[in-house]
Amino acid sequence: MELAAGKLGFFRNVVVRFLLFSLLIVGFRFAYVITIRGESCRVGDDFCFFSSRSRGNQNLVSAAGGRIGSSSVTLNPTAAASPEFQKRVMFYITVFQDLIVDGFLSTKSKSLCVETPVGVDVYALREIGVDDSVGIYKKAMKPLVINGLGHRHPFNNNTFDFIFSGNGAVDKSANAVAFAAEIGRTLKPEGYVVVHTASADTYSFNSFIRLFNCCTFIRSRHIAGLDSHMPQIHEIVMKKQIDIKIRSKTDINSVNRCSIPGYKQDLLRNSEPLIESEPLKPWITLKKNIEKVKYLPSMVDINFKQRYVYIDVGARSYGSSIVSWFKKQYPKQNKTFDIYAIEADTHFHDQYKSKKGVTLLPYAAWVRNESLVFEINQTPGDENVEKGRGMGRIQAVESGGGIVGSTDVIQGFDFADWLKNTVSEKDFVVMKMDVEGTEFDLIPRLIETGAICLIDEVFLECHYNRWQKCCPGVRSPKYQKSYGQCLDLFKSLRQRGVLVHQWW
Ligand SMILES: *[C@@H]1O[C@H](CO)[C@@H](O)[C@H](O)[C@H]1NC(C)=O
Ligand SMILES: *[C@@H]1O[C@H](CO)[C@@H](O)[C@H](O)[C@H]1NC(C)=O
Ligand SMILES: *[C@@H]1O[C@H](CO)[C@@H](O)[C@H](O)[C@H]1NC(C)=O
Repeated sequence: MELAAGKLGFFRNVVVRFLLFSLLIVGFRFAYVITIRGESCRVGDDFCFFSSRSRGNQNLVSAAGGRIGSSSVTLNPTAAASPEFQKRVMFYITVFQDLIVDGFLSTKSKSLCVETPVGVDVYALREIGVDDSVGIYKKAMKPLVINGLGHRHPFNNNTFDFIFSGNGAVDKSANAVAFAAEIGRTLKPEGYVVVHTASADTYSFNSFIRLFNCCTFIRSRHIAGLDSHMPQIHEIVMKKQIDIKIRSKTDINSVNRCSIPGYKQDLLRNSEPLIESEPLKPWITLKKNIEKVKYLPSMVDINFKQRYVYIDVGARSYGSSIVSWFKKQYPKQNKTFDIYAIEADTHFHDQYKSKKGVTLLPYAAWVRNESLVFEINQTPGDENVEKGRGMGRIQAVESGGGIVGSTDVIQGFDFADWLKNTVSEKDFVVMKMDVEGTEFDLIPRLIETGAICLIDEVFLECHYNRWQKCCPGVRSPKYQKSYGQCLDLFKSLRQRGVLVHQWW
């Protein structure tokens, strides 16, 4: 036993020493590269003993199996000398060697590394013999890294066989759409793009794939990262298509049905259950329910979307749901949302003037473009104007009747049609809908047209003949629908893969 353990310890020692030795060699090389073959050589010619192009003569075998000693590089001396830096070179050598084995990269590939501050990945590529490789970053670090941005490569169309984006650069990109489009532009048809992202859930993975119009998904895998900044890396490999036009990444098919991928079903399973039995005190139960809501951005990464959009249908005052709930409580993962407030009641319109990032649609969301009769739910002389306003029901002009009291004629618009023209599946769309019973017209229309597939998360208040707070045993006479019909509406949405929550 003791002998075996001793032997094991001996071998371990040998391995560790070998690894340390290899790192030392890398360290010396960096020092050599910096002091002798660095940028400074251009200035002080006398100081350059070696031609910076004398390559490939000192091939050693590194611990990772790469040929160390074939690139000509300039690196920041302090950064390069650090073990941390050497560890990262080794990491990328392993990553690229795996990609070579799998046939996505070869030593002949013309290669680009996107958004690489010091070009560790470019260095690694050159070390393993991918000589025709370069990196871009906002600040150049020649000869490894030249000046260029993730959304603006300084290269012609169809230039590269292989493009790599490491270190979660795409996660940090302010414009992921442009980032993806630019890769699609400079990559050659049938070329490969490999991206390392920290996002690991299936939702963000699907958003990610959808961003790359150029390419088809080839494979992905999870690998251990290098530090706490990115402990797990999701490596995604895609291939550029010869003809991009033939492909369409829409979830809405010809009969306006959304596809319900498995990940959406998983999200629904993890969301809070619907309140099955009618609450006796709805004014308490439904309001409290918002605390149990599993918000989508608390379950998944909402990276990789083109735009972030919040649509408040029946917005009423600016301070109500937009400020007090959406701005304060909805988890936004630091994204800036474009807000659309849909409110027909003129009483509130002034509040929306000069609100940055907020677009007011001063109409009623409806199933087609037409004039509507709008109930002004207000007793003359009532002090509490704000409370009563905006709670009016709407009705088509020609149908007449039903609504008593004062009315306005307002403009209704085809909400489903508007939605299809305003947002796309590349956007992240949250909708709150509180429309005094019109949900029984709007939701079926959204489903029928397929527009519902464009919405990621819905907060819906369903209006039914609820128990009154004032008078026990008395139901509200304002609405005809029952709690059961509301529940059916929620269930029909969830069955279609829509993450809908009960709003109060
Ligand atoms: C390069 O590609 C972009 C978009 O893919 C296209 O708009 C542009 O016309 C192309 N340029 C040339 C010179 O072909
Ligand atoms: C949002 O930004 C703040 C500060 O800029 C940062 O501390 C926080 O971690 C960020 N949150 C997310 C979810 O990215
Ligand atoms: C409704 O009106 C808007 C604005 O005029 C218009 O853009 C849209 O096409 C109309 N929708 C339908 C279905 O007619």
